Amino acid sequence: MDYTYGLAIGFHTLAATVWVGGMFFAHMILRPALAGLEPAQRLGVWREVFPRFFLWVWLSIAALLASGYGVLLVGFRAGFGGGPNHVDLMQLTGLVMMALYVQLFFGPWRGFKRAFAEGDLAAAAGYQTRIRHIVTVNLALGIVTILIGTVGALLGA
Ligand code: HEM
Repeated sequence: MDYTYGLAIGFHTLAATVWVGGMFFAHMILRPALAGLEPAQRLGVWREVFPRFFLWVWLSIAALLASGYGVLLVGFRAGFGGGPNHVDLMQLTGLVMMALYVQLFFGPWRGFKRAFAEGDLAAAAGYQTRIRHIVTVNLALGIVTILIGTVGALLGA
């Protein structure tokens, strides 16, 4: 029996859980819990939290791409567009999520680090707001993508 497909999809789902679950925790739990702190303290926590989380996001993206395109290109489906329709949609929403994350990482995250290191808390807070906006969009897209991957398969779309 060949377990490769099952292992690839298991890996794929784990990576989606780490990325989307991490965004859910940051946005829905950590952010409101920190809201009452002074800006210096609040931004200081994010300065420590983000690099740890972003490492896992890069690993998740690598795992999602390797397992997703592995399934499509290496024998289980007939190429990029050779999966069921819901996988076409998943590629669209998944690649948009990845593009937004790359923009976040090389744009506002760099600005945040620089401003925080210079002690410019107002600028750091502005960058943090931009990061939050992108994470909000990506969290919504991530939830939709998980639903596409699971419910889409059930609907036979
Ligand atoms: C962008 C590149 C992506 C590709 C090429 C891709 C590809 C695939 C493929 C081929 C499957 C198996 C469906 C089948 O063959 O019937 C799948 C399932 C799935 N994908 Fe993706 N995917 C991508 C991104 C994502 C992202 C970003 C997420 C979530 C954040 C995600 C979540 C899921 C889930 C939850 C499943 C269902 C797993 C199951 O059956 O239990 N995928 N994906």
